[in-house]
Formats: sequence, structure tokens, C-alpha cells
Amino acid sequence: MPKIIAFSGSPRKNGHTNTLIREILRGAESQGDDSKFYDLNAEGICPCQGCNYCRTHDGCAVQDPLQSAYEEIHQAEALILGTPIYCRGVTAQTKIWIDRMFSMIESKDSGFAPRHPGKRVVTVYSQGYYDAAAYQNAIDSTNGILKGFGWYVVETLLCYNTSSPTFVLSPELLKRAYDAGQSLAKLSER
Ligand SMILES: Cc1cc2nc3c(=O)[nH]c(=O)nc-3n(C[C@H](O)[C@H](O)[C@H](O)COP(=O)(O)O)c2cc1C
Repeated sequence: MPKIIAFSGSPRKNGHTNTLIREILRGAESQGDDSKFYDLNAEGICPCQGCNYCRTHDGCAVQDPLQSAYEEIHQAEALILGTPIYCRGVTAQTKIWIDRMFSMIESKDSGFAPRHPGKRVVTVYSQGYYDAAAYQNAIDSTNGILKGFGWYVVETLLCYNTSSPTFVLSPELLKRAYDAGQSLAKLSER
């Protein structure tokens, strides 16, 4: 089973989100860690059907290309979630993944309890607008959902101002991504 699983909600295969995710994976793989990449824009990925199977089972009843991810997440040490900002929030592809991850928490009389806690997560966001703080609420909300799964968001990378005609991903951000991948892998060895 791969130690690190990445999920990308960007439909642009060579966009900024995916470039940063690839750099994180390159860092992790430099330490010998296996990884797997899920393109959440892949054909056949279905939204949550609200069947509530995951309220009584650890997993999801929807048989689609995400089905393999449940056991892989259970076994993984670390996860990566990347998404562009679309209309002030995450992309529809990312929201589908978030809803499908409802199985990561079980319902108890006292509230929700994580089923697979303790994963370390790096999140990646990319936005066109020049103001880095503009969508902090969307970032906090998304990171907060992952924390609700009992996961630790150890690093958040934000690429902003991509709408500028002169935009290029900075070597500093690319290095932060690579280093984040190395750290994920090194911590997995413990
Ligand atoms: C439908 C759509 C909605 C968008 N909405 C926003 C937005 O609300 N704020 C923003 O800063 N950028 C917005 N953008 C721009 C993207 O966030 C930006 O191009 C981002 O860098 C794309 O990431 P990617 O290269 O990983 O695909 C939008 C782009 C699209 C296609």
C-alpha cells in the first residue's frame, strides 16, 4: 500500500495545483516513500448519494474509481489535498471528495468520532486573485474539515496571483513543496 496518497481537485493536469502536488511527491519519493495520485476530475467519480451506508459501515457504498482510496487512506501515513479556488471556495471536484470522506467520521450519541485519525496532511491551494488573504475562510474551513477527521494539517501551501500575465510559480514555493514532501516521508519512518 502507498504511504502517501495525493488527491487533486484541479481539472488542469499541468496547472499550478498539480505542479505543487508533484513537487511534494517528488520530495517524498526522494526519501523512498511510495505514493499514489488521485485525479478527482477523473471520469466516473461520483458525488455522495446520501445513502448513509457510512453511518453504519467504515467505507462507502458508491462503486467508482474512489473506492480503492478508502483502504489506502486507512493504511497511509500521510495525505495531500490540493485544490484551486473556484468562486471563492474549493472546486466541485474537491467538494465531491470531501463529501465522500464522510466515512472518515462515525456518528456517536455524543457527536462525531474519527475512524482513521492521526494522518498528516499537506494542503495546496491556488488562486487567481493577488490578495493572499482573500479566501482564508475557505482555506480554514477546508483544513478544518480535515482536522475534524482527526488529521493533522502540517503545512498549507498557497499559490496566489496566478491571473497575473507575468505569474510564474516561485522557486521558494516549489522548494517549500519539495521540503514538505521530504518531511512527510521522514516523519513516516518513525
Ligand atoms: C470557474 C473558475 C472560478 C474561479 N474563481 C476564482 C475565485 O473566486 N478567486 C480567485 O482568486 N481565482 C478564481 N479562479 C482562478 C483560479 O483559482 C486560478 O486560475 C488557479 O490558479 C487555478 O489553479 P490550477 O492552475 O491548479 O488549475 C477561478 C477559475 C475558474 C476556472
